[in-house]
Amino acid sequence: MGKSFKFIDLCAGIGGLRIPFDELGGECVFTSEINKAARQTYSMNFLDGAKDSLEAESRINTDVVEIGSDRPKDVPEHDLVVAGFPCQPFSHAGKKLGFEDTRGTLFFSIANIIATKRPRVVLLENVRGLKTNDGGNTLRRILEVLRNPAEGLEYYVPEPKILCARDFGLAQNRNRIFIVAIRKDIPGAENFEYPEPTHKRDEVWLKDFLLPNPDKKLTISQRLWDGHIKRKVANTKAGKGFGFQKFDPEKDHYVATISARYYKDGSEALIEQPGKPTPRKLDPEEIKFLQGFPAHFQLNSSSVEAYRQLGNAVPVSVIRAIAKKLEPFL
Ligand SMILES: C[S@@+](CC[C@H](N)C(=O)[O-])C[C@H]1O[C@@H](n2cnc3c(N)ncnc32)[C@H](O)[C@@H]1O
Repeated sequence: MGKSFKFIDLCAGIGGLRIPFDELGGECVFTSEINKAARQTYSMNFLDGAKDSLEAESRINTDVVEIGSDRPKDVPEHDLVVAGFPCQPFSHAGKKLGFEDTRGTLFFSIANIIATKRPRVVLLENVRGLKTNDGGNTLRRILEVLRNPAEGLEYYVPEPKILCARDFGLAQNRNRIFIVAIRKDIPGAENFEYPEPTHKRDEVWLKDFLLPNPDKKLTISQRLWDGHIKRKVANTKAGKGFGFQKFDPEKDHYVATISARYYKDGSEALIEQPGKPTPRKLDPEEIKFLQGFPAHFQLNSSSVEAYRQLGNAVPVSVIRAIAKKLEPFL
């Protein structure tokens, strides 16, 4: 157990960013998540002690824009902020007006909480596309706001890093961008380094993440399979990307990124089934492992919600490696 620190979990989803900091002995003192079904899953896993799931869910704050923009002082004191916020472009209008061009966005609300509370460490997570969003303007503004003392913040922010789940022992090709910011007065802040891979890619096998007896219901119908093939042919002709992707558990080391829309048709990661005419979708329990969540983690009782929430989540093993690097600064 590490030394104790307090942290807040914003745009928390189902708490993928939280797990490794709980493991380090941190105390989560505030959570914000706007989606009701995600709050249900979060409360089942992290808020025991509540009378019932309704009471637990009500303990989670909903809109981070409301609290971050209007009353950031109400957020309890903390040493660390973690946030996996959706990527939104900023307006170009007010470039020289400090926070102005980010106002109204989730990032503005998070930055306002940081400026008010001045935690020691910030960890932001986003899709890889943040780097190119609005021609690079979105990321550039995020870094300027975090680094610039005139905007109330003065953090050491090394170049953001794209890390892949495959380098951290997970059989999924999932790249995410991470932004670490450490308050400049924290001793050694500028010595922070992002983690190196913990695993060799060819040592990780897809089959180790799959259930021995997957539910028959996961096998896709001949009609859906025919549709996948037809779309793939049409896409290839039009030069428009891949269409479905199919993986062989006996040969492959990973699946493609599981997205929040996976439940619709499983197109990004279908699993071959020897001797069967059609492949199958992954079970939510398998995606849970491919995202590095612990075995005891409880999924939402609606499988559509479980797929959606897992597709939005962070790969926990990557966060664990980052958390170890952040521990000395907490
Ligand atoms: C990419 S997901 C984060 C997933 C999370 N890191 C995890 O591991 O589960 C972004 C989350 O932000 C939430 N969100 C979007 N707008 C929000 C708002 N205004 N206030 C709070 N949460 C919000 C979404 O509902 C979604 O769950």
